[in-house]
Amino acid sequence: MPTSHKDTNLRTAAVIPAAGRGVRLGPGAPKALRTLGGVPILVHAVRAMARVRAVQVLVVVAPPEGAAEVRALLDAHGLPESTDIRVVPGGDSRQESVRLGLAALPDDVDVVLVHDAARPLVPVETVEGVVEAVRAGAPAVVPGLPLADTVKSVDPASHTVTGTPQRALLRAVQTPQGFDRATLAKAHATVTEDVTDDASMVEQLGVPVLVVPGHEEAFKVTRPLDLVLAEAVLARRRATDGY
Ligand code: C5P
Repeated sequence: MPTSHKDTNLRTAAVIPAAGRGVRLGPGAPKALRTLGGVPILVHAVRAMARVRAVQVLVVVAPPEGAAEVRALLDAHGLPESTDIRVVPGGDSRQESVRLGLAALPDDVDVVLVHDAARPLVPVETVEGVVEAVRAGAPAVVPGLPLADTVKSVDPASHTVTGTPQRALLRAVQTPQGFDRATLAKAHATVTEDVTDDASMVEQLGVPVLVVPGHEEAFKVTRPLDLVLAEAVLARRRATDGY
């Protein structure tokens, strides 16, 4: 019987790029290894994905020289044994790290999520929404939120504004981004210029990208203030949800 995109038995994997240095957070350990509530950010992100029943395989992309350290770290934090967790060394760019992660996926995976290690608090429902949309037939899916700020394009040389896109037409896009595996593989094989997310590579192929609701708590820990916010969210979850 031919497989259909509506087939709920499609195997789903998540690639977690965690090879960034996190320079915008200030001096210290690589971002993914810094702690939130005493637990490394990466471990939070891995747990968040492992909590989603549909996700059967996880590929963590470690800093290029840090795969053994990351493996030891994950083992030390007792992650669920039902999820197949693989660790591979990453590359110089996020794109390269994701490509190396995709190369480590088992053959029978049909749906791939790419999730920033730097988004440790993504709620299960947000991940499930992305998986469901891909399983329902969308080749590429991103979680997005409306913007609070007005956004301007600028000329970086003169610091002058070159335009103001209509805010109602903009979305701040998060991860996990979800893909039909063949579509994502083709994008990574075709697009070579530097990009900041996987969906933009798929867009360059002319493939439609669906936006589903994102979540405020799926924010990326990038700057020092984000760590303060993440600690507060985690403390609230631990107090109220037994997280
Ligand atoms: O730099 P940015 O915040 O966009 O990074 C997003 C994610 O990509 C982070 O989880 C980071 O660890 C990862 N990354 C990577 N390899 C790189 C650069 C970033 O895995 N060379």
